[in-house]
Amino acid sequence: MKDLSKRQFFDQEARGWDDRYHQDDASQIRKLVDRFDLKPRDWVLDVGTGNGILLPHLFEKVEDEGKIVALDFSWRMVFEAAKVKKTADIYFINACCETLPIKDQTFDCIACLATFAHVNGKSKALNEMSRVLKKGGRLYIAHFLGKKELEQHHRLAGGAVEQDTLPPDSEMREMMEKTGLKDVRIVDQPGLYLASARKSLSC
Ligand SMILES: C[S@@+](CC[C@H](N)C(=O)[O-])C[C@H]1O[C@@H](n2cnc3c(N)ncnc32)[C@H](O)[C@@H]1O
Repeated sequence: MKDLSKRQFFDQEARGWDDRYHQDDASQIRKLVDRFDLKPRDWVLDVGTGNGILLPHLFEKVEDEGKIVALDFSWRMVFEAAKVKKTADIYFINACCETLPIKDQTFDCIACLATFAHVNGKSKALNEMSRVLKKGGRLYIAHFLGKKELEQHHRLAGGAVEQDTLPPDSEMREMMEKTGLKDVRIVDQPGLYLASARKSLSC
């Protein structure tokens, strides 16, 4: 397992990914998505969509006239996500978030759940996410574990994700602000890491 790349690691995990979530998680996800302040017709990018766990919750908010792009660098994850029942305009992209094949200022909101810790080029990925956000658009980077808990969780998981961590708050804030994001807020508590920001109106 140790010698597999991260992409291969997630390809292998894709089929059983549903089993990772408990029934309680639906309410946890709903509460998180409520914080995204989504409106009908919004365009949303789900970075590291996995098997699409967020998608039904996003549909509920953006409704039929909204657009959702679900992106993951593991094609098997994208394959699983594409099985989610569609109730809104949805596009699936198999790509790395460090180089988004998407034009500038496309989205009202970007959600990145349980993914950012796994991204190797974090600063590059933040640059890209900021680039594809509309002015005033919102970015939410979340994990359902605090930073310390997450480190331990990945150590125990081992393999390609063994070393995956989140940056210290000051570094995260600096990286986000450098890309033109403002109002950076970081919550790091047991059971939740949430870094949120808004793209400057003057960028
Ligand atoms: C732990 S899973 C979380 C999936 C889903 N968001 C969830 O909460 O169930 C992390 C996902 O991020 C994807 N991922 C990791 N690094 C990525 C990158 N650099 N670009 C795009 N996807 C990435 C993995 O393939 C995997 O599907």
